[in-house]
Amino acid sequence: MKNIIFILCILFASSAIAQCTIIPTPLVYSPVQGHFIVSDTLTINAPDLLPATYNYLEKELAARSVVLIKTSKSEDLRILRDDHGSENSYEMNILNTIAISFKSDNGAFYAVNSILQMIIEKDGQLAIQKCFIMDEPRFDWRGLHLDVSRHFFNVDEVKGFIDLMALYKFNKFHWHLTDDQGWRIEIKKHPKLTSIGGFRDSTVIGHFSDSPRKYETENYGGFYTQEEIKEVVAYANTKFITVVPEIEMPGHSRAALAAYPELSCTGELNTVPGLWGVFDDVYCSKVKSINFMKDVLAEVLELFPSEYIHIGGDEAPKERWKECKQCQKVIKKNKLKDTHELQSYFIRQMDAFLMERGRKLIGWDEILEGGLSPNAAVMSWRGEKGGIEAAKQGHNVVMSPTAYCYFDYYQSAHDIEPLAIGGYLPLEKVYKYNPVPEELTEEQEKYILGGQANLWTEYITTMDHVEYMAFPRALALIQSLWCKNKPEYDIFLDTYLKYQEDYLKLHNVNFANSIHYPQLKIGRASEGLNVNFKGTQSTEEYLLSTFFRDHESYVDMGSRIIVQDTMTLKRPSGKGDSEMTYLLTSDNFNETLMYHFNLSGDLGREIELVTPPHPKFDHNGSLNLVDGISAGVKFKGTDWLGFNENHIEMIVDMDGSKEVNGLKIGFNDNKGMWIYLPEKVTLYASDDSENWREIGRANEFKDRQNQISFPSTKSKFIKLVIKPLDEIPAGSGGAGSVPWTFIDEIEFLRKN
Ligand code: ACM
Ligand code: ZN
Repeated sequence: MKNIIFILCILFASSAIAQCTIIPTPLVYSPVQGHFIVSDTLTINAPDLLPATYNYLEKELAARSVVLIKTSKSEDLRILRDDHGSENSYEMNILNTIAISFKSDNGAFYAVNSILQMIIEKDGQLAIQKCFIMDEPRFDWRGLHLDVSRHFFNVDEVKGFIDLMALYKFNKFHWHLTDDQGWRIEIKKHPKLTSIGGFRDSTVIGHFSDSPRKYETENYGGFYTQEEIKEVVAYANTKFITVVPEIEMPGHSRAALAAYPELSCTGELNTVPGLWGVFDDVYCSKVKSINFMKDVLAEVLELFPSEYIHIGGDEAPKERWKECKQCQKVIKKNKLKDTHELQSYFIRQMDAFLMERGRKLIGWDEILEGGLSPNAAVMSWRGEKGGIEAAKQGHNVVMSPTAYCYFDYYQSAHDIEPLAIGGYLPLEKVYKYNPVPEELTEEQEKYILGGQANLWTEYITTMDHVEYMAFPRALALIQSLWCKNKPEYDIFLDTYLKYQEDYLKLHNVNFANSIHYPQLKIGRASEGLNVNFKGTQSTEEYLLSTFFRDHESYVDMGSRIIVQDTMTLKRPSGKGDSEMTYLLTSDNFNETLMYHFNLSGDLGREIELVTPPHPKFDHNGSLNLVDGISAGVKFKGTDWLGFNENHIEMIVDMDGSKEVNGLKIGFNDNKGMWIYLPEKVTLYASDDSENWREIGRANEFKDRQNQISFPSTKSKFIKLVIKPLDEIPAGSGGAGSVPWTFIDEIEFLRKN
């Protein structure tokens, strides 16, 4: 302890405080003046270090041309076990030598990873900032998930993914091994699961909501033998990562049902689908199917020592169960209320099976519906609600809400992002995530085991693309999962840009550059918009080329360097119908970014959103509707304003507008994403915003641009009342739920 106080005193005495290079940021980091110089050979005395950890350190140092030499005296690097601290903790003193102490082997591994991240180049030499570090994690569950069903990744690729997790102190690898589109784990008792369920004869091309759909008709698939699974589990173990297998049930089971149709309610033979989505065919709840799943789990337990076994449980439609005589019999016999309780019954069978064998069940938050067995843990994905409810009931929880943890979402709003499922999850938003919801009491908080990001691979076909989606967002997430007191986002970003991008390059990671793309900031200006390209760093420079089109004539307005300048776009005073296009490039990325504005007579107009948009899809509020940017791609990034209500109302302030006689309005038709065209739109006019008269209506719409004509009107206010369908129709994904309504650019038609 004396040592710490001494060092802290030096710290306060020195003015130049060197930045910490490590992510996740250690609990205590106290730099002192000077650097430890890493020479070509580093002597090490580490009798307590596991051979695997020693070999790892040796290999990582070799990549920097540093040779490790074992010694037992006057060493550069001493790593010793010691009794104090927590199980996962480590301490380091870096002065003229490096001294590391740890309590358990994983602490030593974390220390080694911290040291590796601290090596920088300074004056042509490798060096480490002198400092004291004390570190331990906030949560025990620091997870990343990988879906290998939608697209298959071989053993070496999976090991590579585990390597990257280890660099940043993740410790749970959630291996999503089964789903509709492929069964990927060898089960010896039921070999058709892989011989038939492991392969599909087609795969949808592009987004699954594209119309018409196109398919690749090549045979696609693969699976892991049990020997390969053991190899991966053992490999992960050397990096202190637990592999948590997921065997989906009762839904997302089409691959298994293609192999063994007798496990379904209908017994009908269907092939392994090449389309993404939620399918009605699920395992029947009859004894035969339940026993089959127990057979599967019995073999899974032999392969995975993990305390928790994930049984899925999400998105299981109840259509087949409602019509199935055998399922109805199970309901009656067990005095169940409905098919939700039947799902609960199904899951309880698995829970009991796992409990008898000393393991625990974890499942997606749907397993709460119909009652949850006391020992089961919940992985909260449909927001935080399920996790909160589970913690209140005393169940362990892993937080993985879509809004913060779905790394299959877009990470920037630029069209150059590769095709993704949809959504918008930039780095900064991930960083802001706190896995402990505010409404939990201190007692309930204890049930939050931690958090996890999910990588669903419908649109991710290669490991390069997995890395692109995972990095750098995984670095933002680990800050929330490891740090008890994480630094501000700006400090994280600076650390990332200064040190971690190089560290990722050193490890050949195909991380996304999206953070370097400027964020478009749009604000209202008098009679138009202020537009500004906000860079990641205040000094970031862009080359901006500007093109203006007025009716038919294009004007190249030339190029210039900008550093976060503001530009003004005015409503055209004449006929309207002019456009502005900016092309932007930078030394920090290879791509050219395009920003296209349609300068309508309603640019920047004030709109009161009487019905608020859903917070998940509220990008820039009502300005989104009059920002000159028409949502181009079906459902991506920030272009659309999304509502999840049965009635949507907004009032446009027509101040200064000429007479209008029609409205252009964009709606999104994307049923696969539960986004529907509205049933009806009614328009009203008023001069006092109290007395309204109807001026027009429409009840037929198409995807994107729609036009509603009405008699010429000049009024102070126009109100739009949009009536979505009451609920998503039966037989479609999300049936019974309120559909989403996505609206974009609105523009009134003027006579001139
Ligand atoms: C999930 O994303 N269906 C768990
Ligand atoms: Zn059935």
